[in-house]
Amino acid sequence: MSRTYLSPPDVGRVERDLLIEAFDSNWIAPLGPHVDAFEREFADAVGVPCAVALSSGTAALHLALLILGIGRGDDVVTSTMTFAATANAIAYVGANPVFIDVSPDTWTLDPDLLEEELKRRARRGHQAAAVLTVDLYGQCADYARVGEICERYGVRLVEDAAEALGATYGDRKAGAFGECAAFSFNGNKIITTSGGGMLVSRRRDIADRARHLAAQAREPAPHYQHAEVGYNYRLSNLLAAVGRGQLKSLPDKLARRRAINDEYRRALRDLPGIAFMPEAAYGRSNCWLTCLTVAPEAFGASREDIRLRLEREDIESRPLWKPMHLQPAFAGCAMSGGSISEDLFQRGLCLPSGSSLTPGEQANVIAALAATSAARGQSARGVAHA
Ligand SMILES: Cc1ncc(COP(=O)(O)O)c(C=O)c1O
Repeated sequence: MSRTYLSPPDVGRVERDLLIEAFDSNWIAPLGPHVDAFEREFADAVGVPCAVALSSGTAALHLALLILGIGRGDDVVTSTMTFAATANAIAYVGANPVFIDVSPDTWTLDPDLLEEELKRRARRGHQAAAVLTVDLYGQCADYARVGEICERYGVRLVEDAAEALGATYGDRKAGAFGECAAFSFNGNKIITTSGGGMLVSRRRDIADRARHLAAQAREPAPHYQHAEVGYNYRLSNLLAAVGRGQLKSLPDKLARRRAINDEYRRALRDLPGIAFMPEAAYGRSNCWLTCLTVAPEAFGASREDIRLRLEREDIESRPLWKPMHLQPAFAGCAMSGGSISEDLFQRGLCLPSGSSLTPGEQANVIAALAATSAARGQSARGVAHA
């Protein structure tokens, strides 16, 4: 039996054909017709006017902050519950991350704590330069509230939508909030180009500037002319071809991830001590990863017991993100609250959720998880069989 991964790439014939077409065209460069087409198609999919294809989601975050003029000495408020790339991008521009805990209702940036933070800063006359929200595990942050708070205090909003392609908030898609948003096409994401990212924005000037900086800030001249420091951040035409193929099946991939999430919820609903990531009423998650928390007393085993049991069965699962305020790399950064994210980290687990996960593989995950409960006699009845 082969290993069951958390979220492996799900690629097929369409991607292969496009990749070979790109190869045969000899546009083997960080520019070309597939890059242009991928940008147009991606912008349409997200519902924003502009998209710039880049080498990673991290590059998109870095450029977003640079272009908004955020730099040394500035403070950027962000969610502590995220992948390190969010905070790293803040550090790249020389700014200071200011971490905020998440709301227990959405696991995204807590709007009440954000409001307190910006109010305190307004009183001190030292306002944050930006708020960088994270659409965690494919669930949008609370944009009505966060957007209103940012507007009230005159703070710019940037969206880390790396995990959230296809998620919605009201009738808008993840990536449509804030002045810029970043997406990732890393191998474990909902669509992948092996590595890659996209910066999207409503503003054409931001997109043009991102394209310029991502191409080593090369000026239009026959020789190599550079008026400022640039970056080598453009996406390869070969990878853009793969991305175009992936985008074509995005609706199927979203439906599949949703069905996997539904099945976990259905099959595990009666297990004591298991609670799933709440889905906020304001939108629809893309179900990138199905996440749950374990109350050890009720369940009869800990999150780590489950993870190790799955591992013994060659099933990959992973603790939720370790909060940034607990990471040595960000020791000493300001932090507001923390108990919610710390608890999620202690008790939370991401289950295999890839769009290529087969019903048989998922049944094995469910069976192994249920078998971990010490209250087996009682809880086994709780595992709803199809
Ligand atoms: C929340 C978040 N932000 C940023 C990134 C960075 O994206 P990339 O790996 O494409 O640089 C990721 C994923 O990798 C992520 O999960």
